[in-house]
Amino acid sequence: MTNADFEKIVDTSDEWIVTRTGIRERRICDDGIYTSDMSVAAARQALDMAGITPEQVDLVIVGTVTPDYRLPSTACFVQKKLGLINAAAFDIVAACTGFLTSLQIASAYIAAGQYRYILAIGAERLSSVTNWNDRGTCVLFGDGAGAAVVAGDDSGHGLLASFLRSDGRYSALLCQEVGGTVNPFTPDYNYDGRDKIFMNGSEVFKVAVREMANAAECVVAQAGITSDDLALIIPHQANIRIIEALAKRLKVGMDRVYLNIEKYGNTSAASVPLALDEANRQGLLKPGDHILMVAFGGGLIWGSALVRW
Ligand code: UT7
Repeated sequence: MTNADFEKIVDTSDEWIVTRTGIRERRICDDGIYTSDMSVAAARQALDMAGITPEQVDLVIVGTVTPDYRLPSTACFVQKKLGLINAAAFDIVAACTGFLTSLQIASAYIAAGQYRYILAIGAERLSSVTNWNDRGTCVLFGDGAGAAVVAGDDSGHGLLASFLRSDGRYSALLCQEVGGTVNPFTPDYNYDGRDKIFMNGSEVFKVAVREMANAAECVVAQAGITSDDLALIIPHQANIRIIEALAKRLKVGMDRVYLNIEKYGNTSAASVPLALDEANRQGLLKPGDHILMVAFGGGLIWGSALVRW
């Protein structure tokens, strides 16, 4: 869906969207394709790349705020569709930080010796919770999924440092108010948009700029390196201006920051793994490279991961 498509449905312009966000297009799921389907498509490619069979997977974690159903978890549908017959499965709700949270949980299980192979997935069908009448949010979001197989070895490659933090005092800044136990759907609910995503963009923006940079600096320090040592930064793709502010604070040129916001918009939990996969397939990640991933989203919740590729 292009910016020109939005010009036909809300009072906006390609010029506003590009200059304020960096977004030109986003991908929208066809009817009949759900979060678990996109997760499965991504997971199949990750399993192939890792040379792992579905039977070898011990756990699948799906980071998503757009599950197929309220119950059971989307991870259980992924398990069924992929034939992960030996796996445990659960979802986590960490919005745009969903993939990094899944990655950190997976890594901790592996470090504890409980599991060997874990599928960490970030997947969203944000088009299903987008308020198409709200020009402040509808132009931002897209659908997608990304997946990684997390496994342990003693090669010295992998997750060197990670960081995760939330502040629930900011919960009202980015939320979907109706549909939970506080405001359940009732027969007389008038579909006023509160069942879709609401965001106070400018307030979220301020916290995002500050905390993404803090999260990034934290893992760089934990890993005992400096930002000069970063080969590539893979940030959550919410807004080009947030990403530029992050690069400036870290004193890293934009040539060392991976960008694909132009094509996909904000895909929440799918954003970081989509970008990681694209960077990998483009040959931008070399063995031994220090790669920084950093994300920020509804909760508010933010986190980072420093990987030696
Ligand atoms: O992924 C999870 C975390 N999310 C984020 O990190 C997103 C953070 N926030 C943002 O990226 C930005 O705040 C937005 C892109 C959402 C909005 O940009 P902004 O520069 O903060 O704009 P604003 O909300 O302050 O709005 C400025 C003006 C307003 O008009 P007035 O009141 O000044 O007349 C809005 O009504 O821009 C107007 N506006 C639009 N105009 C044309 C808002 N959306 C649009 C639009 N087209 N789509």
